[in-house]
Amino acid sequence: MAEEKIEETEEEALDEKEESSAEEAPVEEAEESEEATEEDSDEDDEIDNDAEEDAGEGSLEDLEGIGPATAKKLMDGGYSTIKSVATAAIGDITEAAEISEAKAKKVITLAKEKCNMGFESADRLLIKRQDIGKLTTGSETFDTLLAGGMETQAITECYGEWGSGKSQVAMQLAVTVQLPVDKGGLDGEALFIDTENTFRPERVVQMAKGMGLDPDEALKKIHVARAYTSDDQMLMTEKAAEMVRDSNVRIVIVDSLTSLFRSEYVGRGTLAARQQKLNRHLSTLHKLADLNNCVVYVTNQVMSKPDMFFGDPTKPIGGHILGHSATFRIYLRKSKAGKRIARLVDSPNLPDGEAVFKVTENGLED
Ligand SMILES: Nc1ncnc2c1ncn2[C@@H]1O[C@H](COP(=O)(O)OP(=O)(O)OP(=O)(O)O)[C@@H](O)[C@H]1O
Ligand SMILES: [Mg+2]
Repeated sequence: MAEEKIEETEEEALDEKEESSAEEAPVEEAEESEEATEEDSDEDDEIDNDAEEDAGEGSLEDLEGIGPATAKKLMDGGYSTIKSVATAAIGDITEAAEISEAKAKKVITLAKEKCNMGFESADRLLIKRQDIGKLTTGSETFDTLLAGGMETQAITECYGEWGSGKSQVAMQLAVTVQLPVDKGGLDGEALFIDTENTFRPERVVQMAKGMGLDPDEALKKIHVARAYTSDDQMLMTEKAAEMVRDSNVRIVIVDSLTSLFRSEYVGRGTLAARQQKLNRHLSTLHKLADLNNCVVYVTNQVMSKPDMFFGDPTKPIGGHILGHSATFRIYLRKSKAGKRIARLVDSPNLPDGEAVFKVTENGLED
């Protein structure tokens, strides 16, 4: 009861603020433009591109209609910057801030305006794409298949049966990301969300040695979180967004993307809810990759036996929706003598093809 009352008052306060700010609009505009010129002069020598990036970093309370209480709710829900609000779905903001849909829509529109979001000319997109980094897998043939390695600003999904090497690739990338850029790395750290309890520091030590890195240093640069439920997993991804922004993390790994969703949402009746939640999760990951110029690598198990709940056994779990959400999709399978075959199945700009590599004690090799 008491809680309800507080919320009511907050909504009212929100309304009041909105009304009063509408009346005082001309004054606010003047203030805003002053601020803008100040910011501009501070960053005179920065290129235009950066100025736009910074546009989303202001305080949430700069948005009309957002008071301290709502700002806190949004922050607690993982929306700590104006940009994160601008790129959120209406339903998510409604839920996080506990405001009406109409209000959420308005807040998102305002946030979009503040971030100058809308159409971007293709030449500017090309400039943004020039920032894309490529991360080596450790295997030259695998890298060649990916035209140089796994891309930042994208989600790469590996799917395959148990033991096909999806988690080996995950741990390997957590190591190679630490390499300097001239050696195919991104000179950064890794964030590893482990949903199956298969992350092994001992294995990382082997791989780091194989790469000529100090194993202790390598372990320190991998931040591991264990997710026990799909809600954990989603929350961690939202937390990851904050962490990535304020650190040198250049890869976020989710191993496995789908296992918890699969075990929690069993049966046909729950399919729509599962897909919807997975979709939201993927959208968070896309934003993470895009806004922070980092690699997102996710794994997805294919059932080896026909599975009554998930239809065609050769199709990855998450099916259609996931198929349209990862930027690059790789089908991994086991071959003879420790060899693995990676098939690039879906890519916006690369031809389909296959690469053969090995998983050895040192990690991924040709
Ligand atoms: N130290 C090592 N040296 C050589 N090969 C190894 C080593 N550790 C693991 N492997 C290989 O990796 C395989 C396990 O692969 P991985 O754990 O990546 O499978 P996965 O695709 O993640 O499977 P799942 O769907 O069950 O998670 C082992 O069966 C083995 O062939
Ligand atoms: Mg695995």
